[in-house]
Amino acid sequence: MTKNGDLGQFLTAERHRVHLIGVAGSGMSGIAGLLLQLGHEVSGSDKLDSQETARLQRLGLKFYRQHRAEDAQEAELIIFSSAIKPENPILKAARDGGKRTVRRAEALAAIISGKRGILIVGMHGKTTTSAMMAHVLREGGLHPSHYVGAEIPILGTNSHWDNRGEYFVAEGDESDGTIALYHPELTLVLNIEEEHLDFYADMAAIEKVFNQLIGQTTGKIFFCADDPHAARICRSLDRAICYGLSESADYRATDVELRNFNSTFNVYRDKEKLGEAVLNVPGEHNVRNALGVIALATELGVSFDKIAKALTKFQHARRRFEIKYDSPRFLLVDDYGHHPTEIKATLRTARSVGRKRVLTMFQPHRYSRTKLLRKEFGRAFGDADRVVITDVYGSNEAPIPGVSGQMIADEIAATGHRGVSYQPRLEWVHRDVGNMLEEGDLVLSLGAGNIHEQLAKIAADLVIAEKIKEIVGEDGDIRLYEPLSKHTTLRVGGPAQFWVEPRTEKSFAELIRFCRRENIPLFVIGRGSNLLVRDGGIRGVVAHPSGGEFDKIDIDGNEITAGVGAKLKEIAYAARGADLGGLEWMEGIPGAVGGALRMNAGAMGAQTFETVVGIRYLDSEGNPHDKNRDQLEVHYRHFPLLQKNFAVSATFRARPAKRDQIEARLHESQEKRRTTQPIAKSAGCIFKNPQTCPAGKLVDELGLKNSAVGKARVSEVHGNFIVNDGGATATEMLALIDQIKTEAKAKRGIELETEVQIVGEADPGIV
Ligand code: EPU
Repeated sequence: MTKNGDLGQFLTAERHRVHLIGVAGSGMSGIAGLLLQLGHEVSGSDKLDSQETARLQRLGLKFYRQHRAEDAQEAELIIFSSAIKPENPILKAARDGGKRTVRRAEALAAIISGKRGILIVGMHGKTTTSAMMAHVLREGGLHPSHYVGAEIPILGTNSHWDNRGEYFVAEGDESDGTIALYHPELTLVLNIEEEHLDFYADMAAIEKVFNQLIGQTTGKIFFCADDPHAARICRSLDRAICYGLSESADYRATDVELRNFNSTFNVYRDKEKLGEAVLNVPGEHNVRNALGVIALATELGVSFDKIAKALTKFQHARRRFEIKYDSPRFLLVDDYGHHPTEIKATLRTARSVGRKRVLTMFQPHRYSRTKLLRKEFGRAFGDADRVVITDVYGSNEAPIPGVSGQMIADEIAATGHRGVSYQPRLEWVHRDVGNMLEEGDLVLSLGAGNIHEQLAKIAADLVIAEKIKEIVGEDGDIRLYEPLSKHTTLRVGGPAQFWVEPRTEKSFAELIRFCRRENIPLFVIGRGSNLLVRDGGIRGVVAHPSGGEFDKIDIDGNEITAGVGAKLKEIAYAARGADLGGLEWMEGIPGAVGGALRMNAGAMGAQTFETVVGIRYLDSEGNPHDKNRDQLEVHYRHFPLLQKNFAVSATFRARPAKRDQIEARLHESQEKRRTTQPIAKSAGCIFKNPQTCPAGKLVDELGLKNSAVGKARVSEVHGNFIVNDGGATATEMLALIDQIKTEAKAKRGIELETEVQIVGEADPGIV
């Protein structure tokens, strides 16, 4: 076509070959859908494909997953997305060849010109309101065509051309000034404020574009009376109709009741009551949006009854206060909000839902917006109890030096907010937020990038966590992504996907059966005193049987039966209290019964199984068994039965002894520890003692004391201890262990074997 031909005629009354560059984008795919329905031969290119491109291909789109000039050679018109650079080969070839090229908004404006256009504009709520408008007019029997910026389940698709109807409802995008391209019959102005300052110099520039659109609107202007800028621009127009909660509005809501997920309100036109409306999308801002729809639909002659009925059926757009998980204990919501005003409105809605706390995760969108609105962002999170900020989602922008999520976190903290933290690694945001969860929390993900994937991870894991909660009952505990550095004496290690504390044998058995049935890995941890957890944490359930039955110590004659959670030290002192000796060695081991059994721990020349007379355990199907000592196979620092089974309790045999003798041996043990072992954070002895020489002595003789990797260091007190000097990682610990092994082998020909149990994922992105 010629450069200046009538594009409206070309696109709506004739049939042509059209190519779209960047067709997978949410706005571009809508145009492609309209063009296909209008009967054009449509091709499109994009570096990505999507569900949308697949759907459009079924409708006839010829799709290319790269941009090559020859694929668009036949096209008479090229439509390009604003994300496309001038050097794009298709765009360049078309321009060089004198072919007509138009921006997305120009094409949309031309398509709308084939109908009576209804344009929805404003900074916030456009997609919701245009979807609501299209839905209400459709239910009102007007067969509207539509174009909205997101996938709207209730409308079926993001765009639709209906030959039967006269009207076309469209969302106008103000971000790049293109709303000035439209000449609609009706315009609805939701709100106007400072946004997209990457494009506009200031507020005056924004108003100029809105004024131009208003000037080009042939019929009525609808505007929200509660929005100061919209009101200032539109109030004086004689063809304007206003709506809102303020007294002066032509269409007004009263008796607004905001509930969990819906609102009810009475609607008045001047003094006349039109009726009651029930809206199934939450928040006061949506009451306003609905009033705009009510005003416009009423003016088009749709009866209030039909409007009200349609509104009750209206379902939200994706990513607009979208409920991702809902149970009596937790509510997870995702929202696309990325501007301070939207964030405030969404948080107010979240607060009004009435859960105990609101936790939020926010991913700033675009460096330019982060920089320009940082003060406003700082003040937007007042309604959130906890805020985790991650790094900026650049969209198509290059980073601006010094602009990061930290900037927003600092601004929020500067307002006196006490619950804000910064997590630069997006893939760890779910861990931080998930681990904060308490019963009664609402969790909100906010941002126009990909933060919702972090919420989805929590939602998926909560399904399992809630089932586990039922198993462990009120007394038991379950937490997501619990840092295992909190539960190991070495203070190292990534998170446990599911941290579970059963309190009874019955719930422990049920947990074992659940994990088996659901194919979830199960790892049992005691006091974590002999454990090195890798930095990627542990996938699946990490059970910590403790409290309740598991911490009990019962003395019966010379025998002491203790649960796996009971500390060895406490058994030693309970024995002393009953004048029983022979268990003083337990004083020297920092762990609990479970761990001592599992590795046949020892101290003072004694080993656990020298005093064990029987144990009770659950097998891999959760069935209980009792075994006597003589039925058990035991080795130095190794007890095979507990590789696949789970100890519940053990019975130890002590012997009557004089109190002062017991005291003396306890004292001896304490002294030995005090003088030969470090008090710093450690996992006890790292290596098993080789036949030929104690490992500590060997390391000492090799001159490796105090050698370090990062914050992991060989103790100067005892060569078989590696200590954490504060903030050491498992990677550092493992590197140091390797160095020692290599030296021992090279210089003394000794293969050191680790005594400490090394578990978990090396890859930090798995849990
Ligand atoms: N030694 C050195 N330099 C050192 C450390 C030790 O020369 O830096 C010498 C000691 O002087 C001693 C010999 O090496 O002659 C053995 O050392 P120690 O008596 O400290 O005992 P260990 O064999 O290193 C064992 C257990 C410890 C337990 C102590 C005390 C093992 C692997 N370790 O240590 O258990 O606390 O005895 O009874 O069996 C643990 O299992 O985690 C643990 C700390």
